Amino acid sequence: MTISMSDVMQVIHRYAPKDFYPKVGMILGSGLSSLAEQITQAVSIPYQAIPGMPSGGVAGHASLLVMGYLQEVPVVCMRGRLHLYEGIAYDPVRTLVRIVKQLGCESVIITGAVGSLRPEAGPGDVMMITDHINFQPGNPLVGINDETIGPRFFAMEDAYDANLQEIMSAAARRLNIPLHKGVYLSTLGPSFETPAEIRAFRQWGADAVGMSVVPEVLIARHCGLRVACLAAITNAASGMSKEKISHEGTLQFGELAARKLTKLIPEFVKELSKTAIA
Ligand code: HPA
Repeated sequence: MTISMSDVMQVIHRYAPKDFYPKVGMILGSGLSSLAEQITQAVSIPYQAIPGMPSGGVAGHASLLVMGYLQEVPVVCMRGRLHLYEGIAYDPVRTLVRIVKQLGCESVIITGAVGSLRPEAGPGDVMMITDHINFQPGNPLVGINDETIGPRFFAMEDAYDANLQEIMSAAARRLNIPLHKGVYLSTLGPSFETPAEIRAFRQWGADAVGMSVVPEVLIARHCGLRVACLAAITNAASGMSKEKISHEGTLQFGELAARKLTKLIPEFVKELSKTAIA
């Protein structure tokens, strides 16, 4: 089902504070809800109130679109994301990213959990994504193209904005947060990878592997949003450590990385708002 963005935005504007013009959008992976809690004067919309969102547990009770202020900068934040491995179509993912654009933001910060393919980047660390390899079986822009949203064919050379990367690196330096840089490879999931897959991905040039991010980056670039992407390293990728990968382990180290991200992202947002490119 194709969702009309004007129907979606009618709902969003019904909830949005008067004269609210967010500068930055944020899409937060699971485990980063504490960042959303830093948002002041917050107005929350449950995903289920937004037309076209999947029903039931997928867009469950923790899934909220939050509008408010971070470091006094107006922001819109997707707290909780939709993953393709949940069996959803691309439509609701497109809707969430396009809301950010339609509210007037020029930039979006996308976060997600990853396994690391680099021995020096360990669990609990943060990696700034500089490029990606789409290994998911599809592209969210397949189908009839709406030229009012973006062009049929669009470049991905500068998908991860160089200026935003500079601002992010400077913010990390000021806060003394080590920031790795690397290439994100997306899988569909929900299984983690085999060691052979990880060896192959290393040869392709991947530094991190995860089950999200890439569809949102594609949708964001299609509609002209600038993208900054931070990955929380929750584990060494399959076969790269004696530790067995478990969901429990990823939660534990995700929390460690999330603590860094909840400092880094507000600092980044504050700096970004001072520049002309916000
Ligand atoms: N693989 C894929 N996705 C992930 C991983 C991983 O090792 N860790 C966290 N998300």
